[in-house]
Amino acid sequence: MVFVKVDKNNCELDIKLQAELFPVEHSPKQVYEGIETGNPVNYIVYLKGMPIGITGYYFDEKLPDHVFINWFGVLKEYRGKGYGSRIIKWLINKCKSLPVKYITTYTDKLVNAESVGLYKKLGFSVLDYDNSEDIAKYTQMGIKDNYVACCKKLKECEDIEFQKLYLKISDDLLEMEND
Ligand SMILES: CC(C)(COP(=O)(O)OP(=O)(O)OC[C@H]1O[C@@H](n2cnc3c(N)ncnc32)[C@H](O)[C@@H]1OP(=O)(O)O)[C@@H](O)C(=O)NCCC(=O)NCCS
Repeated sequence: MVFVKVDKNNCELDIKLQAELFPVEHSPKQVYEGIETGNPVNYIVYLKGMPIGITGYYFDEKLPDHVFINWFGVLKEYRGKGYGSRIIKWLINKCKSLPVKYITTYTDKLVNAESVGLYKKLGFSVLDYDNSEDIAKYTQMGIKDNYVACCKKLKECEDIEFQKLYLKISDDLLEMEND
């Protein structure tokens, strides 16, 4: 597999792959922002010259010890062959050289059950988001009781503080509410 960083020359392909993998929630704006600012950093994944998926990472100033997995997916016809795992293993290795302690993502254990299985297999700790107050308050805005945080240590460090990860969800929702 070959990982090609997204820049102004290949961003249209990245946007197309993102839309195919995430028809509802893709974000071309975020791809352009990444090229401008370096956050997020996106990659197109090639196999024998063919694009088969995307991955990437981003930082959030609210949680400076974490690097977050950005849009990650494998095209349908290439799934179930171990490519998703290889992509995340590559990303973990890449992120080890960054000045952060953990690699983290939020996902949905029903809609994205495959990815939760993948993260568990690769040693991520997976914990349910179980703040019933938030769930009741924000259900209208998309928060569900099947949300999970997946987090893995990138180096020897303190245990994962899932409470902080959950606070970020609340913060993000609050920002969305105030937008
Ligand atoms: C999640 C995704 C990237 C997995 O890619 P993949 O190349 O099929 O993954 P792998 O073949 O490496 O599978 C790794 C593990 O994922 C889990 N998995 C993959 N497909 C699965 C399925 N259909 N059902 C249940 N678990 C599955 C398994 O734990 C599997 O390990 P195993 O093969 O030892 O059982 C792919 O399904 C995808 O792109 N989904 C849509 C986008 C998405 O959900 N992205 C993640 C957002 S957080």
